[in-house]
Amino acid sequence: MKEYFEALCKRKSVRDFSDDCKISKDVYDNIMKKLDMLMPLDGDIKVNFEIAERRDTSAKFGEYCLLMYSEKKPGYLINAGYMLEQMDLYFALNNIGVCWYGLAKPEKKVDAGGLDFVIMLAFGQCGEKDFRYDRRDFLRKPFSENFDSNTALEALKTSLYAPSACNTQPWYVEGKDGLISVYRDTNVAARLPKAMISYFNSIDMGIYMLCLEVSLQHYEYIFERRFYNSEQMDIKGRIKIAEYKIL
Ligand SMILES: Cc1cc2nc3c(=O)[nH]c(=O)nc-3n(C[C@H](O)[C@H](O)[C@H](O)COP(=O)(O)O)c2cc1C
Repeated sequence: MKEYFEALCKRKSVRDFSDDCKISKDVYDNIMKKLDMLMPLDGDIKVNFEIAERRDTSAKFGEYCLLMYSEKKPGYLINAGYMLEQMDLYFALNNIGVCWYGLAKPEKKVDAGGLDFVIMLAFGQCGEKDFRYDRRDFLRKPFSENFDSNTALEALKTSLYAPSACNTQPWYVEGKDGLISVYRDTNVAARLPKAMISYFNSIDMGIYMLCLEVSLQHYEYIFERRFYNSEQMDIKGRIKIAEYKIL
């Protein structure tokens, strides 16, 4: 996981691919191997991955689409975000362009062992220029808007580079005396129907947790994670998703 930190600092959604650049067979084979190594947040949720040609989906860019399927158990969307973000960072680390693609769907029926389609990543070969080399190129809310912490500040500052649907950044993070609490803020503004926002923002929270863990590990924090599988909202409209105890 530690090597992902470099990827987190350079990652960017890539939507423009040249038809002249193709994923080679070696790169494709390595992607397939990587898929077998993904760490789940909840290993009791059955998942499956398929790679489809873009023309077999409604995606408008990318050479291929990585489709994720899952059992619909509590927490399955957060688990999906956590697992696929490992691929998002793996692609960036290997200079492969990628974009989370919530609005696209597979158009060909895939036998995914009876599991439901959740979301896809569109990807394709790109160049080094397609990444970020200056932290100021990340368009994110000011740190103080989503974070209130006296703990692990450097790690939290990098965790905000996590991608999110429509860049909504639905996380709210409180850190106090070695305990970091991660919430999903339901008061986000986006031009999408409410149910869709809740669906995508749950995936975003898994993405955020993965990015936070990559940052904590980079700064050599050892932690214990507690994952809450609840939908209970506090009076500020926040749902507690996880707690990290720094040891
Ligand atoms: C769950 C999710 C769904 C997304 N869906 C789309 C999409 O349908 N189309 C698209 O162009 N970008 C999509 N994105 C990409 C976001 O717009 C992008 O991550 C965000 O604006 C931040 O930009 P960055 O990834 O370049 O840092 C999605 C991102 C996430 C995490």
